[in-house]
Amino acid sequence: MNYENILVTAEGAIAEVTINRPSKLNALNVATIQELHHAFNTLELNPEIRAIILTGSGEKAFVAGADIAEFAHFSVEEGAHLASSGQELLFDFVEKLKTPVIAAVNGFALGGGLELAMACHFRVASDNAKMGLPEVSLGVIPGYGGTQRLPQLIGKGRAMEMIMTAGMMSAEDAYRLGLANHVVPQAELIDYCKGIAQKIIKNSPTAISQAIKAVNAGFKDGVNGYETEIKCFGKCFGTEDFKEGTTAFLEKRKAEFSGK
Ligand code: COA
Repeated sequence: MNYENILVTAEGAIAEVTINRPSKLNALNVATIQELHHAFNTLELNPEIRAIILTGSGEKAFVAGADIAEFAHFSVEEGAHLASSGQELLFDFVEKLKTPVIAAVNGFALGGGLELAMACHFRVASDNAKMGLPEVSLGVIPGYGGTQRLPQLIGKGRAMEMIMTAGMMSAEDAYRLGLANHVVPQAELIDYCKGIAQKIIKNSPTAISQAIKAVNAGFKDGVNGYETEIKCFGKCFGTEDFKEGTTAFLEKRKAEFSGK
């Protein structure tokens, strides 16, 4: 697939996906969502890739939301389909990836942009980042998982206020409330994320993928996260990574994980 709206690069085991529509503040149109789906799926299937950094092009925006021009005339059915297909192709898809995805939030993360950052496994913000879910100011609600993931991350009352006021919060506030794990100067954002990714890729990819599954299970309706954890824990014992990790420890050497 030829990408027109995103850039994908890799340096060793760390891939970088950049949403590249700076003239539209990287707004997510359907074509961009499809390209992102393809890129994430391809990276997930590549055993060499062990961490992914997702960011936006330019210095102004991570993603300023779903593309308003594209959905402004949608019917009820088209609106529902936009949300369900987007969640399936991108937002839920990213959350469930076995490969860790770090959102490098380099400016505005609004609406679908914040929803995409929240679907990533965690977020690092640049000091100029601004985050918000302004959908009610347009007469809609967050439709890419925002009503679910924002309360999970910052609590129900704060999420209610943020959604109802359609307000934006600063990077510092996002850090204080747990929406961003770190705030760094914009020029250092990608290197900072790469530094975290370097730590991640030293560890067992199979164990990390089971950990993602177990953590996510705790936020799913009708799923017992503790039971999922038991199953995921058990599965680790059947992996080469587990044999390597424990053997390396006992032999007092560094583990070399194959990801199998
Ligand atoms: N969808 C479509 N286009 C968007 C967009 C979006 N979500 N966000 C920004 N753009 C476009 C603008 O229409 C403009 O395009 P143009 O130059 O062809 O007119 C371009 O990106 C630059 O945006 P602009 O509004 O001129 O920049 P600004 O610095 O004045 O304001 C924002 C920045 C983020 C405050 C403002 O763009 C904004 O409010 N965007 C919408 C945010 C939103 O409601 N997102 C939720 C959508 S569900």
